[in-house]
Formats: sequence, C-alpha cells, structure tokens
Amino acid sequence: MDPRTPEYWQQVYDTEARPGWDMDAPTPLLAELLDLAGLAAGARVAVPGCGFGHDAAELARQGFRVTAFDFAPAALAGARARYGTAVDWRQEDWFTTEAGPFDAVFDHTCFVAMEPGRREAYVARTGELLKPRGRWLLAAFHDVQDRPGPPFAVPMEDLRRLAEARFEILHLAEATRSHPRRAGREMLLVGRTR
Ligand SMILES: C[S@@+](CC[C@H](N)C(=O)[O-])C[C@H]1O[C@@H](n2cnc3c(N)ncnc32)[C@H](O)[C@@H]1O
Repeated sequence: MDPRTPEYWQQVYDTEARPGWDMDAPTPLLAELLDLAGLAAGARVAVPGCGFGHDAAELARQGFRVTAFDFAPAALAGARARYGTAVDWRQEDWFTTEAGPFDAVFDHTCFVAMEPGRREAYVARTGELLKPRGRWLLAAFHDVQDRPGPPFAVPMEDLRRLAEARFEILHLAEATRSHPRRAGREMLLVGRTR
C-alpha cells in the first residue's frame, strides 16, 4: 500500500489499537519547540497528521486556536473520543485543504511520514498555509535505525536545504528533550515564512 493515501494509514489504525508511533501523550518536544518559537498568545496553529490528537489538544489547552488535520478516519475518531471539541478536527489531506492561513504549523511526525520525493512539495504546501512571517515548528528524525519508512530519516543538511527554499531558518539543531525511545535521533527546526 501507498503511504500517500489515507487507506495506508487507516489500515495501520485498523490493525493496531495503538500504533507504534503513538505515545499516548504530547511529545516532550512540544515544550521545547514552543520555547524556541515564541508564538503570540492565542495564535492560530495548524497540526498536520495529528493522529490521536495529543499535541493538538495540549496546544489548545495552552490557549492556542488549533485546527488539526488527518486524512485517516480512525485517527480523528480517536482524537475526538479523547479530546472532544477543544480542537477543530478536520478529516482532510494537508496537500488539498482550503483551511488557513495560520500563524504557525506544529509538525510532529507528519513531515517525516512523507516519502523523500514528496518533501519539496510538502514544504511548499506548508509555506502556502502560513501567513507571512508565520512559523513552521518541526520535529524530524535524522536517524530511523535502518528501518524502512515511514518514518523516513532526513539528514540535517538536507532539511536545511529544503526549508531554506521557502523559510528563513530561525533554529535548526538536535532536539534536547526527546522521549527516551527517540533520544539522540531527533532534530528541531523553526522556520519563518518570508
Ligand atoms: C506517524 S502518524 C503521526 C500521528 C501523530 N502526529 C503522532 O505523533 O502521534 C502520521 C499521521 O499523518 C497522517 N497523514 C499522513 N499524510 C497525511 C496527509 N497528506 N494529510 C493529512 N494527514 C496525513 C496519517 O494518517 C497519520 O495519522
């Protein structure tokens, strides 16, 4: 099956009650990214590929106005069951949604779910959905321990080149507050649209 399609992801949700990527809690990198990005209170934040919605719900709890996207029905059903209506949940494809523009995009394991050949288009799309001087907050893997993707690892210098095509890079470095299962394998990017 093809990870560009909702059917691929839906099948994972259908076969695993809790998919391997789900940590049943917001990523500890959320706090690190927010510290780096300095978003205004009440900023409008999009969360692409939200899965069961832990990060989106935490952002809403902190007072951001959050719209979360996932094209797999089971992901959104799980998010709604866990977190109710604090977030505007959208069953839409990030590449075709007409929502936005947003002040920020919080991206945890959606960019890395893209096959390498789709990265350029994904970055362009993310830039389109942001306001001028909007922020892309990204956590990405530079190491997936030789497993076939998704997720797909991206070397830091490749990420820099991809992001620079659309964003001014405010921060790009190793993550320091990764979940223990992911320690030493993640990096953080904060980009600003021009
Ligand atoms: C690896 S999971 C991560 C889920 C969540 N961010 C987390 O960390 O628990 C990737 C999610 O992105 C969704 N997804 C992948 N491509 C997408 C697209 N083009 N538009 C919307 N959702 C997408 C999948 O359905 C899946 O739920």
